[in-house]
Amino acid sequence: MTSAPALAAQTSAAPDAVPPGPPAVSAPAAPHAGRAPHAGRALRIGNLELSSPVVLAPMAGITNTAFRRLCREYGGGLYVTEMVTTRALVERNEKTMRIIHHEPYETPRSVQLYGVDPVTVGQSVRLLVEEDRADHIDLNFGCPVPKVTRKGGGSALPWKTDLFAAIVETAVREADRGGIPLTVKMRKGIDDDHLTFEGAARTAVSAGVSAITLHGRTCAQLYSGTADWTAIARMKEIVHGMVGDEIPVLGNGDIFAAEDALAMMERTGCDGVVIGRGCQGRPWLFGDLENALAGNLLRNQPDLGGVADAVRRHGEYLAEHYEDEFMGVRDLRKHIAWYFKGYPVGGDLRSRLAKVSSLSELDALLSELDRSQPYPGEAAEGTRGRTTRPKRPHLPEGWLDSRVMDAAWHEELAEAELDVSGG
Ligand SMILES: Cc1cc2nc3c(=O)[nH]c(=O)nc-3n(C[C@H](O)[C@H](O)[C@H](O)COP(=O)(O)O)c2cc1C
Repeated sequence: MTSAPALAAQTSAAPDAVPPGPPAVSAPAAPHAGRAPHAGRALRIGNLELSSPVVLAPMAGITNTAFRRLCREYGGGLYVTEMVTTRALVERNEKTMRIIHHEPYETPRSVQLYGVDPVTVGQSVRLLVEEDRADHIDLNFGCPVPKVTRKGGGSALPWKTDLFAAIVETAVREADRGGIPLTVKMRKGIDDDHLTFEGAARTAVSAGVSAITLHGRTCAQLYSGTADWTAIARMKEIVHGMVGDEIPVLGNGDIFAAEDALAMMERTGCDGVVIGRGCQGRPWLFGDLENALAGNLLRNQPDLGGVADAVRRHGEYLAEHYEDEFMGVRDLRKHIAWYFKGYPVGGDLRSRLAKVSSLSELDALLSELDRSQPYPGEAAEGTRGRTTRPKRPHLPEGWLDSRVMDAAWHEELAEAELDVSGG
């Protein structure tokens, strides 16, 4: 974990300064860490040469500039914004413009879009390109939220092969004008009987995408069960069969430790890993990944004082992000349980931390912690973040009857882009 002096230097950095490099790793190696077969591996997405094959997954309400900044302090990679809808972007919605904002040190700038209409998607990509607001654009086709799929959007959309192709082709064409790599992220399909990823991968490759991410779950699974890594292997096989290693396949789902990432790359042959829930309350996972991929055995295993320091920094960055201390600290509340998972904090202090409303109150509460409590091992590891039961997807009436769009769907589909976040 970060040493106290290094921390002081980080928190006093000017907002537009490049944050210092990853903090020193102080923890002993995880006993189960093995030899890394991917030492020194990099990732190329279109014209972007990334020094690391690690991507922070877009997560609505989580992956704002504050969280990205914190994660970056531990390790390299590609840090994607949470998704914004293409319509809101074209309309220059204030919140949307804030979400796609990057600080000067954030490079490459990576923005995720979600859209259901080829024209609007094209306009939004054009806006990003012409106004030089992104170096990489990702299109999200994985959202399982019922209010989106009920209208035919999100992970229901790739079922309509013509619409999927039209959206991706338009987006690639517009992104190409600015030389910006355009990638897609998807789930396996609607449910086990209606898988879409194989055909969607072929379409995306033909359309000229620069990378494809597969979350190894169906829409029906939501966040239940385990991610199917064999589907990721299958996607790699398909893409490799079409274009060799020209277009990377990124694997996503259930990476909660650096060893999981090595295992996914080993078992599926994927070119990079996309980290979602595993870094919630564990931004240092990016440091662990960097170490694992470089072939060393160092892992961050912070004591309670180290965790408290990260929580404090996260709160401060959120206050800066919102330019409002209360809003920042209020947003921090949802991270508290993730940070302290497995640590002896006590129910009363935990619940007071989860209601914190200012940085000075946060300081007072954190000072009640016994900072010397060591890393609790397995209790702090494993699954974290959102879990759900599987659920039959909500779809428009008759959606599954045909693989192509019917004019009647278009009006309904437009509503699949209203007031949406997450996926
Ligand atoms: C709270 C939350 C918000 C999410 N928001 C998005 C999003 O905006 N865009 C997206 O493509 N995926 C989103 N996802 C899905 C993740 O990017 C990722 O695909 C999923 O969590 C599986 O990866 P994991 O097992 O590493 O968490 C979200 C997931 C969660 C838990």
